[in-house]
Amino acid sequence: MTFARVLGTGGYLPEHCLTNSDLERLVDTKDAWVQERTGIRKRHIVGPGETTCDLAEHASRRALEAAGIEKDEIDFVVLGTTTPDLVYPATACRLQARLGISGCPAFDVQAVCTGFIYALSIADQFIRTGAAKCALVVGADASSKILDWTDRGTCVLFGDGAGAVILGASEAPGILSTHLHADGRYEHLLYVDGGVFHGYDHPAYVRMQGGEVFKIAVRTLGRIVDETLAANNMDRCDVDWLVPHQANIRIINATAKMLGIPMERVVLTIAEHGNTSAASVPLAMDVAIRDGRISRGDTLLLEAFGGGFTWGSALLKY
Ligand code: ACO
Repeated sequence: MTFARVLGTGGYLPEHCLTNSDLERLVDTKDAWVQERTGIRKRHIVGPGETTCDLAEHASRRALEAAGIEKDEIDFVVLGTTTPDLVYPATACRLQARLGISGCPAFDVQAVCTGFIYALSIADQFIRTGAAKCALVVGADASSKILDWTDRGTCVLFGDGAGAVILGASEAPGILSTHLHADGRYEHLLYVDGGVFHGYDHPAYVRMQGGEVFKIAVRTLGRIVDETLAANNMDRCDVDWLVPHQANIRIINATAKMLGIPMERVVLTIAEHGNTSAASVPLAMDVAIRDGRISRGDTLLLEAFGGGFTWGSALLKY
């Protein structure tokens, strides 16, 4: 049996950092409120001219280096993003060209904060079936470009960044299962008010009913944790690390509680990164691998929830 195994990871945050105190000068908010209600202390924001592809390129190069493979070994590129550089070509194709790879499939996946989990699941299916041997899977977003910087209900939440994972075909267990879901009926709770057919007369901004999103996210993430463990005949105590989407510390606390996993076993980056959308899960994974918390053989549960609504999970042996 062939598995898709994580060979290496990489992450990248843009240089420019925005603290909660910086935001106090932009909107009617307080550092203490943001920390208490979200867990966020600061976030990184792209500089002038810097794009999602730039972030993805840095993260991908770091992942290639960590995996110890040559770029020419990559035969599949998939990138989760909601903030592509252009309507087309896909940011994955721009990334492919930057990295000097050509010929293999390269495409974007748009599932907002669940984008990386969707991308990982797709790459996993290609590797399991033998259609690909070595995949570059990226989550990258520059949400700062679609924020209304006068809306304190959204602008304090997001940050920019990219995370990348190299998956290779292996006889040893890697990704054990992935679980993807969506429910398009909730568009009115979380959406961007501009696109090809709407709002081209004004900038496109994230619009969110935060409280409603919060309640549904907590319920849904609890369910997907159960679904993932049941599919693998595993128990809550079999999970070494929960690597959650970093949207709000209170959502993460609630999910960890439902899973019965102590917070010491939950990877948290929200304080320093904010919500980096599709980048948040691979960035968190990269941080915990590089600082030595996650070791080879550990069982990781990744999960995310985002606009769409979309939600998903992956259980894997690192
Ligand atoms: N600073 C100070 N006060 C604020 C701020 C702020 N930045 N933002 C909102 N408030 C105020 C509100 O106006 C409200 O004031 P009022 O009572 O006078 O009306 C009060 O704080 C409480 O507002 P709530 O929205 O009820 O606050 P809540 O505790 O729910 O926190 C938050 C808001 C942080 C947005 C939370 O609801 C949340 O995190 N929601 C989920 C976000 C999420 O997970 N999104 C999904 C992923 S994102 C994606 O997919 C792109």
